[in-house]
Amino acid sequence: MEKERFYITTPIYYPSDKLHIGHTYCTVATDTIARYKRLCGYDVMFLTGTDEHGQKIEEKAKEAGVTPKEYVDRIVTGKGGVLDLWKLMNISNDRFIRTTDDYHVEGIQRVFRKMYEKGDIYKGAYKGKYCTPCESFWTESQLVDGKCPDCGREVHDAEEEAYFFRLSKYAKPVQELLESGTFLEPASRVNEMINNFIKPGLEDLCVSRTSFSWGIPVDFDPGHVVYVWVDALFNYATALGFMNDRYDDYDKYWPVAHHIVGKEIVRFHSIIWPAMLMSMGMPLPRKVYGHGWLIIDGGKMSKSKGNVVDPYVLAEKFGVDALRFFLLRTFPFGTDGNFSNELLISTINTDLANDLGNLVSRTTAMVEKYFGGRLSPERESSPADEELVNLIRDTKARYAKQMDAFQLHLALEEVFKLIQRANKYIDENAPWVLAKDESKKARLATVMYNLLEALRVSLVMLSPFMPDSCAKAFAQIGAEGESVSWDKAGEYGVLPAEVSVHKGETLFPRIDMAKMLAELESQSAKKEPEAPAYKPVLPEVSIDEFAKCDMRVCKILSCEAVPKSDKLLKFVLDDGSGKPRQILSGIHHFYEPEQLVGKTVVAILNLPTRKMMGQPSEGMLISAARETPEGEEVHLLMLDDSVPAGAQLC
Ligand code: MSP
Repeated sequence: MEKERFYITTPIYYPSDKLHIGHTYCTVATDTIARYKRLCGYDVMFLTGTDEHGQKIEEKAKEAGVTPKEYVDRIVTGKGGVLDLWKLMNISNDRFIRTTDDYHVEGIQRVFRKMYEKGDIYKGAYKGKYCTPCESFWTESQLVDGKCPDCGREVHDAEEEAYFFRLSKYAKPVQELLESGTFLEPASRVNEMINNFIKPGLEDLCVSRTSFSWGIPVDFDPGHVVYVWVDALFNYATALGFMNDRYDDYDKYWPVAHHIVGKEIVRFHSIIWPAMLMSMGMPLPRKVYGHGWLIIDGGKMSKSKGNVVDPYVLAEKFGVDALRFFLLRTFPFGTDGNFSNELLISTINTDLANDLGNLVSRTTAMVEKYFGGRLSPERESSPADEELVNLIRDTKARYAKQMDAFQLHLALEEVFKLIQRANKYIDENAPWVLAKDESKKARLATVMYNLLEALRVSLVMLSPFMPDSCAKAFAQIGAEGESVSWDKAGEYGVLPAEVSVHKGETLFPRIDMAKMLAELESQSAKKEPEAPAYKPVLPEVSIDEFAKCDMRVCKILSCEAVPKSDKLLKFVLDDGSGKPRQILSGIHHFYEPEQLVGKTVVAILNLPTRKMMGQPSEGMLISAARETPEGEEVHLLMLDDSVPAGAQLC
């Protein structure tokens, strides 16, 4: 019987800087889904690649004194470049596309011509606000505080003769597409697209440029290069051979396309992309999934954070599988996650060293100690086995449900329920006590067998996340061949009765948090500037005076930007009194509202109410601020979420 097909893509990456852990997150997640689908028996095509054209790259190459092609070659194929990184991270892509590849260039020229001949691309003149780093034109109404809505940087007036795509013509069918079914997920992104982009009115899209030359030339009008997003989006089809002769897989895989993309490029993938596909008369992808960002210290990652976010450094220190696991276990795939080395280390220690690693090492060590490494075939089951055996049988279905919905963190949660139950089962059944009594040999063998079975099914489900470590662990527990297949991942009693184990190397050594943090710090490419020494600048206060400040723990119920202000955020807080409290704070340069909802913060409540931009502010949030050579830095004081609202600081 022919296998069912599955086509999955990552965004193609800009080779303008070194890729960081945020890019790695997206690719590792997609790789894990691809591996899972292969495990389930699908015929998978997994594509990734690089997006190599555009003004930004032209400028960077100029700065570096090389041609744009030389520049991108170095970042894509050079030592420590994109290809090396994906190899290191064990990315199992079946194909890698570079938008400078000849076949892609040919495909894009044909696509552009087809839409032009159809009348969906026409020539006009473009006037607007242009953001160079994002390569995006914006209308006045789309700007936020006069700046680029995507990256917050300055935009400038620009005008050029250009080709336009009739995006407006497709507004209705695109809206219908977004509203019907599950084309775009998570569902929260649907409203965002409709309210922010479609409802205000979709304008035709400028799809060619004349102000620079590093792009795919419009073959019937030299001087124009194709807008980089048209060039980039169609990679998903040209990589299968669409409108070129390099490959021949378009009919096979295109109908089952799934795109995994970061949240800031959902707009391109869920509005512009389907509109162009409709224009081309091509089937639409099955799904666009918009994941959140990894953020650091509350802000987006950047080069200035140095080695902390360098996946090469993290993989070397922690191991590729531990890093892959951490990224997908810790952060819900659809929302932003705050990356920190502390979190990375504690996740590895808790889940991998303690829960999984200990289960493997304790189980194999006991089978070696009590049975010489080969389990005896006698069995004696007990009602005490029921819960574990049921979990061995049932976890697969719950895991699959989450994996199929790309809820990778929830799928892992299911596996860890089983692993944690198995660890508890060891303590409940105390094999070391059974081992002292020869008449309990069959019972002891049953307990060990159940543990090996729990491990076997857990490892099958973990294998898309940590392929190498799971292969090693399978060898340790004596699982091989069909027993490690997906088909057997929901069955109990699969390992041979006399299974042999081989206690091997520790799979996930425990990490000394303080030592590792110090190592990472000393390796950091860019040292944080030293905090200035404390100077007592304010006059002394008595303890009684200090105690007059009513500082309370508050939970942020909602947070939004104050219209017409680029600094102010409006917070509604639960201060423990039962009545919501509104406070305004000028920290918008440092935080986005959605980062803060749900956080536990501290406010001074007994300041007089004052008005800011016409709105009352009933107190003040406490932040830590300092001057650095790069400007002011502000950190909102946040407490552990277990501290209740209303607790008083004293
Ligand atoms: N070239 C475009 C994509 C074109 S697809 C037809 C692009 N490239 S990118 O290199 O800037 O980003 C690639 C992907 O990495 C995006 O999905 C982006 O969201 C993701 N990430 C970049 N930084 C990230 C984090 N800090 N966290 C998570 N993902 C992040 O956009």
